[in-house]
Amino acid sequence: MYLRRLCPNFVKQTIRTYGVAVPKKSPKILITGGLGQLGVECAKYLRGKYGRDNVILSDIIKPTNDVVNDGPYIFADILDFKGLQKIVVNHRVDWLIHFSALLSAIGEQNVPLAVRVNIEGMHNVIELAKQYKLRIFVPSTIGAFGPDSPRNPTPNVTVQRPRTIYGVSKVHAELLGEYYYHRFGLDFRCLRFPGVISSDPPGGGTTDYAIAIFHDVLRKGHYQCYLKPDTRLPMMHVRDALRALSEFLEAPNEKLIRRVYNVTSMSFTPEELTGKISKYIPELQITYKPDSRQDIADSWPQVFDDSEARRDWQWKPEVDIDNLVSLMIKEVKEKIAASR
Ligand SMILES: NC(=O)c1ccc[n+]([C@@H]2O[C@H](COP(=O)([O-])OP(=O)(O)OC[C@H]3O[C@@H](n4cnc5c(N)ncnc54)[C@H](O)[C@@H]3O)[C@@H](O)[C@H]2O)c1
Repeated sequence: MYLRRLCPNFVKQTIRTYGVAVPKKSPKILITGGLGQLGVECAKYLRGKYGRDNVILSDIIKPTNDVVNDGPYIFADILDFKGLQKIVVNHRVDWLIHFSALLSAIGEQNVPLAVRVNIEGMHNVIELAKQYKLRIFVPSTIGAFGPDSPRNPTPNVTVQRPRTIYGVSKVHAELLGEYYYHRFGLDFRCLRFPGVISSDPPGGGTTDYAIAIFHDVLRKGHYQCYLKPDTRLPMMHVRDALRALSEFLEAPNEKLIRRVYNVTSMSFTPEELTGKISKYIPELQITYKPDSRQDIADSWPQVFDDSEARRDWQWKPEVDIDNLVSLMIKEVKEKIAASR
């Protein structure tokens, strides 16, 4: 206890040598694509655990003052291999969290760029992780499945024939990571997330409606949904997603039977979500105007089977749909108040 209080940058885990407890140093973590929906929150979460200066956020866009004040932020283009090498060496990086990507809806609008960022970028970071023996985390998605996959439930290992470039690039990342693990012993770890819901602006995915609905009904009282009312998709609050990521990153290798796991918290439809929100805002109005994202959603899992993650590293979601709605109403109200 005394040592831990004296050295806040050391994690709780200890290695016992000759009966003496020696604190294990915190890993130095680099997050790529860190200014998107998940990165900033992820940095906050991991800084709470490993210390402010041990988590470096990076992206190719200009940060806000808040981001810079929160902790280390640097420019890193995942298409620039030498630049990445320089960062890993200069900052003595141990773990890489690779968030850079073009998401499903945005990827369909610019396929060549999605190929570059999602596939060539992945080649760079995996080779980097191999060269410098980094632990590497790459998120995958429910979008890595397609119309031939069983949709309710979708097991951990099954047919994967996605019809978006986003999905194709994520299957590629999963397989490449597994290959590098078996061939070179790379510590590759991958979670397939469902739609992640947080009060931050989403990056252009198919599950974004479940975020936009809160912003629109709290600002304007109505929302036009681009999916049909009965479109069921798996979802998770960002709090569960970051806890899953962190617990999975810390899981001992010998517990992991797979390198890629499904994780989820719940599944719902726009109609069911609206029903829950209307308990807080009874006068809300929702209209439905499905667009091209409906075809994507119709090819994705409806219910995600994460039993293997629960079995192997004791994954357990905590935020259900009622908690999620109450958290989002509170968090989005705060965001709106801060922007005025
Ligand atoms: N948000 C979700 O619901 C969800 C669900 C499943 C999986 N994921 C995965 O989690 C990761 C993060 O998702 P997100 O929602 O934060 O994405 P996002 O679209 O909000 O952010 C992606 C970031 O990548 C950055 N980027 C683009 N090109 C880059 C380049 N050349 N070099 C460096 N960075 C570059 C962008 O500037 C952006 O900030 C992605 O890999 C995504 O596939 C997200």
